[in-house]
Amino acid sequence: MSIFFHSTLKNSKRVFKHVKFKEKIQYNSKYFISSSIPSKELIANDSIINKKFVPFQKNINSRRTEAKRSILVQVQSAQSYKELYSYCSSFGNVTQMFHYTTGIEPMHFILVEFKNESDVVSTLSSSTFVEGNSTTPVNSQFLWFRSTSKKITKSKHKNAALVIEDGITPMTNDRIRETLQKCNNVTEQILTLYNNTKMTDLECRLRFLTARQMELSVYGMFPHARVLPFGSSVNGFGKMGCDLDVVLTLKDNKEDSSSRLVFHCKDSGVDRSSNLRNLEVFGDLLQLFLPGCARVRKILQARVPIIKYYHQFTDVECDLSMCNVSGVHMSDFLYIMGSIDSRVRPLVFAIRKWAQEVGLTNSSPGRWITNFSLTLLVLAFLQGPLHSPPILPSLNTLVKSAESKDSFITDEGVNCSFLRDIEKLHFSSVNIENLEVLLCEFFEYYSQFDFKSKSVCLNEGVPLTKLDHSALYIINPLERGLNVSKNVSLEELEKFKFAARNAAWILQSEESTNTSNWGLLSIFDKPNKKMAFSVSRNKNERLMQVKQLFEEEDNTDTGHSEVDNRRTQLEKNGNTNRIGKTNKMKNPNR
Ligand code: GTP
Ligand code: MG
Repeated sequence: MSIFFHSTLKNSKRVFKHVKFKEKIQYNSKYFISSSIPSKELIANDSIINKKFVPFQKNINSRRTEAKRSILVQVQSAQSYKELYSYCSSFGNVTQMFHYTTGIEPMHFILVEFKNESDVVSTLSSSTFVEGNSTTPVNSQFLWFRSTSKKITKSKHKNAALVIEDGITPMTNDRIRETLQKCNNVTEQILTLYNNTKMTDLECRLRFLTARQMELSVYGMFPHARVLPFGSSVNGFGKMGCDLDVVLTLKDNKEDSSSRLVFHCKDSGVDRSSNLRNLEVFGDLLQLFLPGCARVRKILQARVPIIKYYHQFTDVECDLSMCNVSGVHMSDFLYIMGSIDSRVRPLVFAIRKWAQEVGLTNSSPGRWITNFSLTLLVLAFLQGPLHSPPILPSLNTLVKSAESKDSFITDEGVNCSFLRDIEKLHFSSVNIENLEVLLCEFFEYYSQFDFKSKSVCLNEGVPLTKLDHSALYIINPLERGLNVSKNVSLEELEKFKFAARNAAWILQSEESTNTSNWGLLSIFDKPNKKMAFSVSRNKNERLMQVKQLFEEEDNTDTGHSEVDNRRTQLEKNGNTNRIGKTNKMKNPNR
């Protein structure tokens, strides 16, 4: 844990922004009625009213520039910051410094941000390599600060913004539980979970610096090389400690037809095997030469071959791929969907967390559902058809609104053209449901979804007929011929449906309010083989066999969904609560 000294950062992302709570809060272009309990936690702290939308590409460019203006220095302790500040100020204008620790025997680091890229160039040109044959002298923005016996002169420069920020260690599960227990309602729990576990500004900086290291290392030979982060590190759905997905591209495809001098180049081929060969070479480069890169593993048999490695200095697990630029456009699409309505990201966080807690997702690849597929399920649910009008537009709506500057076709021929600037989007929703209701509706929707014959389609915004027998079919929005969730087995899908149904019922039950693990916490327990519902006073009636639950899936020809059937049963038992339409949750500890 690092120390917080003082913050002169006006726009520090860690500062909660408060809004005077009235009956209604305006969210983006919509009104969103939340619970009537005023709290600073009741809004996502990055989705304040009237905050201007920054398009994905602009955001990426500014983060990349920030990384070019930054260095990472290993120091003795947080106390070294004054000396380091003074030393670095002799090469350029230091604007911010962030301290954090990582590792079991904590290594201390300070990320130094300069005003200009040229400040970094002059700092690096004044840095040195240690003498001796055992190290390879590689230029990078990762350095260490050695002690000196010389007298330190005080900096002539005016004191810049020195921020020793809270570190990069995610909140422990116990701490998350404690924090959620103190909330007043489920909506507040969902927002609190999001605000406390989403990726921080410092983590984002470290990820872009990690990508920059790779880019810089090949710059001499590949001046057009770019290492672009994608996935949850940049799509707005990243939580603290999430992995860093990056794609390395060697050319920018912009030929200057006016130039008469042309570089001689070797023909490298464009097939998969040449791509694999190149990727292997970059894997070796990481392993042998780049400081901080450890545990390099080559996963070359996958559909998208990757090099996995761990960065010891930035504490980031990285997946490096090549040429897979459609992943960047996919991240842009998810970023847009998360920005259209401020409920989207908190809801995705809650559902990802639930899936992790009940054992539906797993960090290693397998037959289970991935976070990415889960995110698409949430977005598809928010597109309707349960909601009228929907909370999110279909991808087709974005495609139809695209301008010429939004047109992108990847080298592999994937058409990634869709509107990038949502301020130009003619879409608005008057849906005012709060997060608690949306969460219940999500569980309800997928526990009765016809996975047997329908696929999830974000392009149309409505389910379509399935094209093959995959258990779960989520059409890849950018490559419609592909199923994003092809890996998911029937068994895992059944687990998902079972867990969703269980969660919907628990959220409805009175008992979920009567323990300290109430509300959102109550659905984090793994479902039992026998589910205990609190819908009936008679304990025996509340116990349901798994078999019973799944038998109802075959009852589709009766015209009633499983949930309808269950509701009828509830009504018979004297409980007429509409699933997902109740706001009865109260914190018993209040
Ligand atoms: P976490 O790393 O779990 O936080 O989420 P993530 O969205 O980053 O997922 P992951 O690291 O597994 O994948 C990174 C990105 O690769 C995703 O955001 C997608 O853009 C893309 N991706 C992942 N899985 C698939 C897939 O099955 N098909 C396609 N087309 N793209 C995928
Ligand atoms: Mg990822």
